[in-house]
Amino acid sequence: MGTRKTVVWILNGPNLNWLGRREPHIYGQQGWPAIEARLHSLAEQLGVELVCRQSNHEGQLIDWLQEAADGDSTAGVVLNAAGFTHTSVALRDCVASLPVPVVEVHLSNIHAREPFRHHSLLAPVVAGQIVGFGALSYELGLRAVVSLSGQAIGPGSDRTERGD
Ligand code: DQA
Repeated sequence: MGTRKTVVWILNGPNLNWLGRREPHIYGQQGWPAIEARLHSLAEQLGVELVCRQSNHEGQLIDWLQEAADGDSTAGVVLNAAGFTHTSVALRDCVASLPVPVVEVHLSNIHAREPFRHHSLLAPVVAGQIVGFGALSYELGLRAVVSLSGQAIGPGSDRTERGD
């Protein structure tokens, strides 16, 4: 029997608990519960389970990433690190050592916004980045993790870290 990995973690960083009330012209009118409900039905179609968590604290996100990595059934992680994307060396270091694929997602198109959002410290160490599709970014991220988890990603793959 195969050992299919069937749990996908969806991790949200700071201020994403305020989706719906936070700058809705940028992040949309939908609150997280509605987005999460759609993700759960997609997960069911794809045959995976979700663990969805949000924190405003950098260390908590790192603890959860490590917990995800330690889980026997973890297929990968969809990560919206929010503001920490642009600042956190510690989060990047953690993502760089994860043995499962991490897909970076953002609701807004960070490349079309203020210059300080153009640079993601995570981008060089994730499997890929999905930006600008609103809530759909998470669904695309989930699909990406599920399809990547069937491939050789992680230690021993040819993923290389650039110096930027
Ligand atoms: C965000 C983009 C970040 O620049 C910002 O700090 C966020 C949300 C997004 O999903 O568009 O908090 O990650």
